[in-house]
Amino acid sequence: MEALRQQLAQLRTEIEAFPVNQVADAEAFRIRFLGTKGALKSVMGEMKNVPAEQRKEAGQLLNEFKAFAESVYQAHLDRTSPTTASVGSSVDRSLPGASQPIGSRHPVTRMKNEIVSIFQKLGFAVAEGPEIEDDWHNFGALNLPAHHPARDMQDTFYVQQNPDWVLRTHTSSVQIREMEKGKLPIRMLMPGRVFRNETISARSHCFFHQVEGLYIDEQVSFADLKQTLYFFVQEMYGQDVKVRFRPSYFPFTEPSAEMDITCFICGGDGCPVCKKSGWVEILGCGMVHPNVLRNCNIDPEKYTGFAFGMGVERPAMLKYGVSDLRLFSENDVRFLRQFPAIT
Ligand code: PHE
Repeated sequence: MEALRQQLAQLRTEIEAFPVNQVADAEAFRIRFLGTKGALKSVMGEMKNVPAEQRKEAGQLLNEFKAFAESVYQAHLDRTSPTTASVGSSVDRSLPGASQPIGSRHPVTRMKNEIVSIFQKLGFAVAEGPEIEDDWHNFGALNLPAHHPARDMQDTFYVQQNPDWVLRTHTSSVQIREMEKGKLPIRMLMPGRVFRNETISARSHCFFHQVEGLYIDEQVSFADLKQTLYFFVQEMYGQDVKVRFRPSYFPFTEPSAEMDITCFICGGDGCPVCKKSGWVEILGCGMVHPNVLRNCNIDPEKYTGFAFGMGVERPAMLKYGVSDLRLFSENDVRFLRQFPAIT
């Protein structure tokens, strides 16, 4: 024990005398005292010569000493490493840093986020699902059984390996996935990419984005649907915009409607965007069909709900003055750079 004390005292003197003027010296210090073959390791090896009843005390002594040596090493490092050295260093810390270029959000993402954030104010949460879907979630459960003529409303990409798989044609498939979970009420938004076998042109593409919404609870009515969408339109396009509902058909909603707003380019006077009608269609909607609820084990006698779905690219084109849809997916930085960095 006494031998150990003496060894440590000697080591302490050595540590205190060890000259450290630069980082390399600090490293030499570490190797000499703290390294795997360092002085401290060999002193620790002495433990086995200490009588059993004194081991505890010896262990404590060694631990304290190790902490001391480490703190001296840390102080040497702090003093000599170039990032923290302030005196005698060639680094001028008052210089401005090298700026990191900040990317910007894609215009489709910005538009999607804007739509989502409006519905979030009404308590809608976001749900996502797979882009490769099975027939049941994309069609069957949505009241579109095999050979139903309305399947042709959307030209579908089928996956060659498995005839039961499709690239989802709408995010209504995610509505089914949410309903199947059996947790009610549901107030969800389903943003995402969808695919349709359409000829690529300035106005249509084989993939695009949608935001769909679903609200299911007891006593949800068409009036709730209208109020929700009025709120959305006012937040998105302003207080003065007029809205109209036109009867429409979707297999998964009954009744179904399409919603138009007064053209936000010409204010309703008539222009090429609204094809001189003064109105632009922005979404499809309706009350969830009882068959759809039944397909998801929800009792249509007890629960009702509404759903709606809108495209993201079209409003983004109008908002940002983009005349060709293809620009959104070409990843041309000259195009993308025109959108301000992160919002
Ligand atoms: N799924 C429809 C489409 O892609 C949109 C929609 C959603 C319509 C919900 C009504 C209700 O065109």
